Amino acid sequence: MNTLDWKNLSFGYLPTKGNIRCYCRSGKWGKPEITTSEEVTLHMASTCLHYGQDVFEGLKAYRGADGHIRLFRVRENAKRMIQSGLYLQMDAPSEELFTDMVKQVVKLNEEFVPPHDSGATLYIRPLLIGASPQVGVKRADDYLFLIFVTPVGPYFKEGFKPVSVIIDRDHDRAAPLGTGHTKCGGNYAASLVSLNICHNLGYSTMLYLDAAEKKYIDECGPANFFAIRGNSYITPESHSILPSITNMSLIELAKDMGMTIERRKVEVGELATFDEAGECGTAAVITPIGKIFDPVTSQTFEYCKDGQAGKVSTALYNRLRAIQYGDETDKFGWVDII
Ligand code: PLP
Ligand code: COI
Repeated sequence: MNTLDWKNLSFGYLPTKGNIRCYCRSGKWGKPEITTSEEVTLHMASTCLHYGQDVFEGLKAYRGADGHIRLFRVRENAKRMIQSGLYLQMDAPSEELFTDMVKQVVKLNEEFVPPHDSGATLYIRPLLIGASPQVGVKRADDYLFLIFVTPVGPYFKEGFKPVSVIIDRDHDRAAPLGTGHTKCGGNYAASLVSLNICHNLGYSTMLYLDAAEKKYIDECGPANFFAIRGNSYITPESHSILPSITNMSLIELAKDMGMTIERRKVEVGELATFDEAGECGTAAVITPIGKIFDPVTSQTFEYCKDGQAGKVSTALYNRLRAIQYGDETDKFGWVDII
């Protein structure tokens, strides 16, 4: 086992033993190769550099109390990369190649999977890029798929503590019929200006509204938004929202807990009616939202008046974590033990 300061890791990059790569040349995938190099050599006219042929994924490996390393719903990440790739006209690895390479790179870096009780995990970052030159706006002929891993602590320094969010009506991360449903790098580049403003104002994330009407709730920073009202789990439906695997899992867990699911357009006006609000994603896990500030109306919506996450968010968080870490039987078949 490595001797990192596991309990104080941030959500950042630390070098590990190696990463894994595979090239697809003119539609034909080669053999995956492990390397210790942290660099990528690319032609200067590669499409990822000029035309944004760049999609990625994010998932985690968890060390259980039994010492086993578990992956959470890795095939869903593979499927989403295939969907993102299709939209950006890229050759994507098959579900099988994706899953095999994830397993290989985690196994290689076993010593970097943090201890069970550290609160840290091994973050897995698969990346697919157009890796051959074009000067006209065209898809690349060749693609590089690589996966690196890095041990991480919580994405929000607060951990499972309420954060403050600000509504951003001045920027959109994605267009209504654009790339929001894909995990392409461009969506994140488009969010940087908004993120910068939001951090400068002392908020941890921005809540985007639908780009066309500014009437409905969209993404919440790098995560999906959800709310609890009575016995309902409510989450926005929109083409510009990334289909979150965490959200998909919370929906199953909420159903299992006897809750009603409302997956639909959610009006901003409903913010005042929710009992709890939160953001969810691989990096964010469940991050409870304590306050949402609307700079246009100067209204603040408060959810965790006692400074603690709400009852339902806490129950969902505990169940999700218990399955990810192997503390609860995986009756949904979500986990792969490496
Ligand atoms: N929305 C955005 C914009 C994200 O970057 C992420 C992170 O992957 C999510 C939602 C959550 O998705 P997932 O739960 O699959 O990690
Ligand atoms: C994730 O939750 O895995 C993400 O990709 C979010 C962010 C770090 C981009």
